[in-house]
Amino acid sequence: MADTRVELCGITLDNPVIPASGTFGYGYEFAELYDINCLGSFSFKGTTLEPRFGNDTPRIAECPSGMLNSVGLQNPGVDAVIREELPKLRKVFRKPVMANVSGFSADEYREVTKRLSESEISDMIGWFEINISCPNVHGGGMSFGTDPCMAAGVVKTVRKVTEKPLIIKLSPNVTDIAAIAKACEDEGADAVSLINTLMGMRFDLKTKKPLLANVTGGLSGPAVLPVALRMVYQTANAVSIPVIGMGGVSSAEDVLEMMMAGAAAAEVGAANLRDPYASKRIIDDLPAAMEKYGIDKLSEI
Ligand SMILES: Cc1cc2nc3c(=O)[nH]c(=O)nc-3n(C[C@H](O)[C@H](O)[C@H](O)COP(=O)(O)O)c2cc1C
Repeated sequence: MADTRVELCGITLDNPVIPASGTFGYGYEFAELYDINCLGSFSFKGTTLEPRFGNDTPRIAECPSGMLNSVGLQNPGVDAVIREELPKLRKVFRKPVMANVSGFSADEYREVTKRLSESEISDMIGWFEINISCPNVHGGGMSFGTDPCMAAGVVKTVRKVTEKPLIIKLSPNVTDIAAIAKACEDEGADAVSLINTLMGMRFDLKTKKPLLANVTGGLSGPAVLPVALRMVYQTANAVSIPVIGMGGVSSAEDVLEMMMAGAAAAEVGAANLRDPYASKRIIDDLPAAMEKYGIDKLSEI
């Protein structure tokens, strides 16, 4: 029997498949389609201190082999997430969840993490994934993930308010992602996850204007897999903490490739939007793919 279990910062996952933040809501929405307890875990929608409506529409543009999004961190705010979203998730999900925290200042990242940590739902959280890499908001988000000192500053500030594993989510829109990962590791991060979306844009030929109201957006989906693999490989060679790989993963074979590049687990993003059953399908396909390539234990890749 293929052994799909992996370990992530001291927590054993049944398999390494984790739906990525922003593509799986707060989980319970997908529980109407299938039993989401088959997942390794999942990362919930990027949560900020205040509610956010997100960017103007249009904020999605399709591309060959991928998509651009400029959603801009739409979410109901941390207090409503604690009060309304996570109690709904508790009814349908028995595993530790990854709490994706977003913000516009180091203090905001700290405050959101603190409120989640001190709330009555804190036992549901296995890891905090601190998103310092959102390309679709101004005055925050990605600016922390493109500078090693600023990235380290966020880790230092958030580290003070939680003992749970801290995963820092990194941006691919940099020259040297490994240097930023190293700065996070040195400041006490327990893991890094990458990649967030790659900044891009498209034009409407009829109006001669950018397709997205926000002008630019983040590219993700199968088109970015080779870039993600390269960055995971470079990062895994530079740090000794676990690396969670994502970017274009849409099949069991892609998960195996991510793990060969050095990832401890793999997040699945845009594929869930194209097919809401994608993460389940990938999990179902994993044992046969492992057998085909002679892999008995995923943790040994
Ligand atoms: C519509 C959409 C919304 C997203 N929202 C978030 C978010 O709130 N927080 C975050 O950390 N990443 C967010 N992401 C980035 C994904 O989690 C992931 O890093 C990226 O899409 C690359 O994976 P993929 O190629 O499998 O989509 C979003 C991506 C998409 C497509």
